Amino acid sequence: DGIRRRDFLDIAAVGTAAVGGAAVLLPLVSQMAPSKDVLAASSTEVDVSAIEPGQAIKAVFRKQPLFVRRLTPAEVQAANAAPVSSLRDPETLEERTKEGHADMLVTMGVCTHLGCVPLGAAEGEVKGEFGGYFCPCHGSHYDTAGRIRKGPAPTNLEVPEYEFTSDTVIQVG
Ligand code: FES
Repeated sequence: DGIRRRDFLDIAAVGTAAVGGAAVLLPLVSQMAPSKDVLAASSTEVDVSAIEPGQAIKAVFRKQPLFVRRLTPAEVQAANAAPVSSLRDPETLEERTKEGHADMLVTMGVCTHLGCVPLGAAEGEVKGEFGGYFCPCHGSHYDTAGRIRKGPAPTNLEVPEYEFTSDTVIQVG
């Protein structure tokens, strides 16, 4: 249960209709080469300007939950202080974020154990022992870089392909 829809600032659903739109679009472009239009239709645009440090929003990307979180300076510091080489899935915060935007953590909201939606994106939810996300299904703890630190999940929360299209908008996919 855990995540209740009303807890989320629902400012980011711009792309969800486009996903369904892809199915409609496909027959029309089936004679064309692999189409940028189709690829674009399955991407999600998220306005991140309203996300305050320490806050996250949940969006939808390819029908799965997507977390976009603006880290506080302390959360960035905590992520950078982690002993990277001894992590289960060693990655730095820098490797998991975009240059100049180390405080903007974009991950799938899908636990890499068995796919539950971790807690921690909505206000008041527990964030686990490492202050990032906590999966209540079997107790996986993710840190402020979305890296698995404790519990059964084998890998870090997935960082999808995305880019900043402006200072305040990211395009995922
Ligand atoms: Fe997240 Fe098992 S699905 S810990």
